[in-house]
Amino acid sequence: MAQTDVDLVILGGGSGGYSCALRAAELDKSVVLIDKAELGGTCLHRGCIPTKAMLHAGEVADAARESEAFGVLATLQGVDAAKVRSYQENVVSRLYKGLQGLVKSRGIQFVQGEGRLVSPPAVQVGDTTSTGPHVVLATGSAAKTLPGLEVDGERVLYSEQALKLTRVPKSVVVLGGGVIGVEFASIWKSFGAEVTIVEALPHLVPLEDESSSKLLERAFRRRGITQKLNARFSGVEHTADGIRISLENGEQVDAELMLVAVGRGPVSAGLGYEEAGVELDRGFVKVDAYCQTNVPTISAVGDLIQTPQLAHVGFGEGFLVAERTAGLPVVPIDYAGVPRVTYSDPEVASVGLTEAQAVEKYGAESVTTLTYDLAGNGKSQILRTSGAVKLVSEKDGPIVGVHLVGSRVGELLAEAQLIYNWEALPAEVAQLIHAHPTQSEAVGEAHLALAGKPLHMHG
Ligand code: NAI
Repeated sequence: MAQTDVDLVILGGGSGGYSCALRAAELDKSVVLIDKAELGGTCLHRGCIPTKAMLHAGEVADAARESEAFGVLATLQGVDAAKVRSYQENVVSRLYKGLQGLVKSRGIQFVQGEGRLVSPPAVQVGDTTSTGPHVVLATGSAAKTLPGLEVDGERVLYSEQALKLTRVPKSVVVLGGGVIGVEFASIWKSFGAEVTIVEALPHLVPLEDESSSKLLERAFRRRGITQKLNARFSGVEHTADGIRISLENGEQVDAELMLVAVGRGPVSAGLGYEEAGVELDRGFVKVDAYCQTNVPTISAVGDLIQTPQLAHVGFGEGFLVAERTAGLPVVPIDYAGVPRVTYSDPEVASVGLTEAQAVEKYGAESVTTLTYDLAGNGKSQILRTSGAVKLVSEKDGPIVGVHLVGSRVGELLAEAQLIYNWEALPAEVAQLIHAHPTQSEAVGEAHLALAGKPLHMHG
């Protein structure tokens, strides 16, 4: 058995693992980074990046379809799903090459193979063991299904399989109205499919402020996306040309395909974690606020731990662990201050607390909200998008939540995140002049209004 001794052994080369490796290498640590598949993980190869490329292709299709409204006479002849796929693969492959170059140039040893934690400071791949004073677990998550629902990859798909389709389905049922469900519903509708979303809870994107969910639902209704809310799935049967989905309320929906998007669960089984003494909670590795497990030499980051399943959270946690294990001072992450974006059309973006969370934390009488309708924003009218900026603040205090709905509003979160994380007062933000005409102006105007001096706002 060969043995490699390094400063840091990282199991899992996705957003959490590779960011940790890159930062540790910057701090002059020797690193082994292990992944059973390609460097880059779910986000780069099967998640964030390819889906956003598809959403962009959808935006192009919609622009062609709706061009007449702008006085441009284009016609949409169709969507070539195989070409959309090669476009997304192209984007992924360029980023993949860049990432491989980065890892190599920082002297990180990347090992492709199935790794297993064999003792607190060691991970084995084949007949080689990598040991270090610190091990980082970053094995991520995988799509979940429901009891009795078989995902066959033909008619019933996970998002990973849906990304590889080389045809546009005529009709799709999307099971789950969370982030993945809503993004795929948006893509397929833009590509011309008939789309039905089935969501067990009363709203789409149920973790968002209820007002954002309602605006998204209204926009999706206008786009012709059918929504079955408060609807629980009870079964699926295969038909001659597709599937028939039954709901607990007795309704049935026929479609060519079904996407299962009911959440993702941690990948931790059979990897030696429990045998090494690492505590798990329903499969998630338990960590403290510094991403350290109960075994002091083992840390865990990314989707494997019970923090928001977002690539950028993985980046932040990877950095935190690299710096902590290198002996630098670190502070815990404020997860409420992490920006969240659902990249559907329209986009839903937020940072901080929802109104309901703020009321629970501060009491109803201590919370103020303000909603600025994008109808008053010039650039949003130019783009023909509707939506809103909603601010949640402590009465006579700082902004504690920003919630945005509309095309491209994800880009506005950069400012919203500074406002939340720097605990800005509405009057302080109102003091900053925003460029006209931009969508970012809507953020400025919402703060002007909350500070008592509205500009383009009625009532
Ligand atoms: P999710 O947890 O966001 O949504 C799953 C939805 O399925 C929930 O709304 C749930 O109520 C619903 N559901 C569960 N059981 C059901 C049933 N029996 N019948 C009907 N509906 C049911 O999970 P999702 O969308 O699969 O995404 C997984 C993770 O990936 C999330 O944590 C998400 O944040 C992350 N992600 C983030 C993206 C982004 O930041 N843009 C993009 C894609 C994924």
